[in-house]
Amino acid sequence: MSNAPTFNHDGIAYGCDYNPEQWDRSLWREDVALMREAGVDLVALNIFGWSHLEPRPGEFDFSGLDEILDLLHEAGIRVNLGTGTASAPPWLTFRHPEILPEAEDGTTRFPGGRQAWCPSSTVFRRHALALVEQVGARYGSHPAVALWHVSNELGCHNALCYDDESAEAFRRWLQARYVTIERLNAAWGTSFWSQQYSDFAEILPPRLTLSSRNPGQVIDFQRFSSDELLGYYRAELEVLRRHSDVPVTTNFMVTAHIRNLDYWRWAPDMDVIANDHYLDNRLADPAAELSFASDLTRGLADGGAWLLMEQSTGAVNWQPHNLAKAPGEMTRNSLTHVAKGAEAVCFFQWRASLQGSEKFHSALLPHAGTDTDLWREVVALGGILDSLDEITGTRVQADVALIFSWESWWAADGESRPSQHVDYLSQVHAAHSSLRRLGHTVDVVRPGADLSAYRLVVVPALYLVRDSEAAVIAEFVGNGGHAVITFFSGITDEEDRVRPGGYPGAFRTLLGITVEEFAPVLPGQALRLTSGKAATAWSERTRARGAEVLDTFADGPSAGRPAITRHRSGDGAGAAWYLATHLDPEDLDEVLRDAARGAGAVPQGDERHPGLEVIRRADDERSYLFLINHSTQDVELPATGHELVTGAPVDSIATVPAGAVRVIREDLSR
Ligand code: GAL
Repeated sequence: MSNAPTFNHDGIAYGCDYNPEQWDRSLWREDVALMREAGVDLVALNIFGWSHLEPRPGEFDFSGLDEILDLLHEAGIRVNLGTGTASAPPWLTFRHPEILPEAEDGTTRFPGGRQAWCPSSTVFRRHALALVEQVGARYGSHPAVALWHVSNELGCHNALCYDDESAEAFRRWLQARYVTIERLNAAWGTSFWSQQYSDFAEILPPRLTLSSRNPGQVIDFQRFSSDELLGYYRAELEVLRRHSDVPVTTNFMVTAHIRNLDYWRWAPDMDVIANDHYLDNRLADPAAELSFASDLTRGLADGGAWLLMEQSTGAVNWQPHNLAKAPGEMTRNSLTHVAKGAEAVCFFQWRASLQGSEKFHSALLPHAGTDTDLWREVVALGGILDSLDEITGTRVQADVALIFSWESWWAADGESRPSQHVDYLSQVHAAHSSLRRLGHTVDVVRPGADLSAYRLVVVPALYLVRDSEAAVIAEFVGNGGHAVITFFSGITDEEDRVRPGGYPGAFRTLLGITVEEFAPVLPGQALRLTSGKAATAWSERTRARGAEVLDTFADGPSAGRPAITRHRSGDGAGAAWYLATHLDPEDLDEVLRDAARGAGAVPQGDERHPGLEVIRRADDERSYLFLINHSTQDVELPATGHELVTGAPVDSIATVPAGAVRVIREDLSR
């Protein structure tokens, strides 16, 4: 938005959610003093404030919020002010149970947790906007307020609501998209299983059925649900804009387990992109996922600065096994986000709760108080972030891009697919992790994005793709770029209709191959290629039609068929690689290493130092090298300049102690 306010902060912000309503007022001054000790300068307030601000319908009490805002302001701490609408107070759901969300099986989700509201509920919206009106009018020009925080993690729990009011809204959305019922029937392929509709009135959300559901209906419901919450965001935004010039955002959830919002569509509405990220110890390599999520968040910010709005200092409370972070891990996590574009490092939450379902969630100030290693690391991190203030405004340097699509995620992971053992995000993570191991910094971009700045573009499992989006990749290769496309890409069009004539329909010509049949294998079955490379999960019966065959399946259901191919562009400068299987990590590394070398992409990191993440942020005058040592060995590498964390000069060799982070202002004159 051209006239949208921008979020300005002097240096890198350090902050947290603060829920003073959970604490006696006598503690507030101590909290603010400790925040200053830690260097906290951006505090999110009023995230779950509704039942305090409006304890009874239409009766408002702002005394607590007034007081804490003034206390923070006096201390020079800026406020990221929540609109307070994330969770409805009991009086509202008691009087209006119709706002409660309904699951796909038609059962109600009751209050007692949080976010128990249907995104399409007009009653909820009316009450929520009335609160935003009050909060906006009262604090719209309060000098402490630096940012508006709409609701909280919109869609975290309630993104998909299947009740009658959602059904009506879904029908309106479909009518706007298709105009006629005939077009909807064509898009959803309803001639199958006698599903043809005669009127929009007959359409329901994809509630639980006896068999698998219509995939067209399912993907449109995903699109609708994402748009519906974006519409809700816009409604709050409109109220705030009337009262305030302060920038507005909401906290995204770019993480491994939340997938219901198409943030490519949301991003343009944010004055600044903000993300919540929690390490997910259910994954094989949580630090690699963090790295992917921050690259994707930067993509949402168009390569510019973004805010890490929440992370944890230690354990969360919502995974099956909630692991404490190792000493230094919180600092490494934080600096990885900063290296990848974050210009705020914030946490959930300030003081660990004594009650409520998050009482075992870590915080900046733990239950054990300030005489703790955790608190000392919190204070040290504040100091490190201060020493990095000068890096703001620089941009992350990357010559490799990876294309990511929420629509492909929704469609590829449909109920009836070739293999339940293969899922979209794991394929994306596999490709990104491999590039990371090879030392590349990766920009994660949307389908259709301009690729001209890159040397290598990796396209993992881009199952659903529009012609125009596929054309950008073909044009990139035509102009001398190198692309690596992996299996289950280019299969369907925007309406999830298979592209006939052999897979991968959208990329067949570019790749110079045809896939005649998918041949996934059972979990645990190993596949071998003639080169000796190992693979699992997937094979396919591919035929080369112009592409060079670099490797073939030596065994399994596709024995003798191409497994890795490369198709040069007309003038030979560009290349389009295809991987027809899920390679083991070191074998995928080998392929991507070759592809990157051929493309002329230059890794920032060095494979001789596995575990050392190397990222560069720069602009025309400045260059900063971020060195994050995830390993248990000290690492030495060539660099010259000034190290910001220790304040020491670096003359030709930099040492990064095991587990530590270093940021070098590079000497550009040498
Ligand atoms: C986020 C949420 C916070 C807190 C946190 C715990 O999803 O925004 O309010 O619940 O998770 O990890």
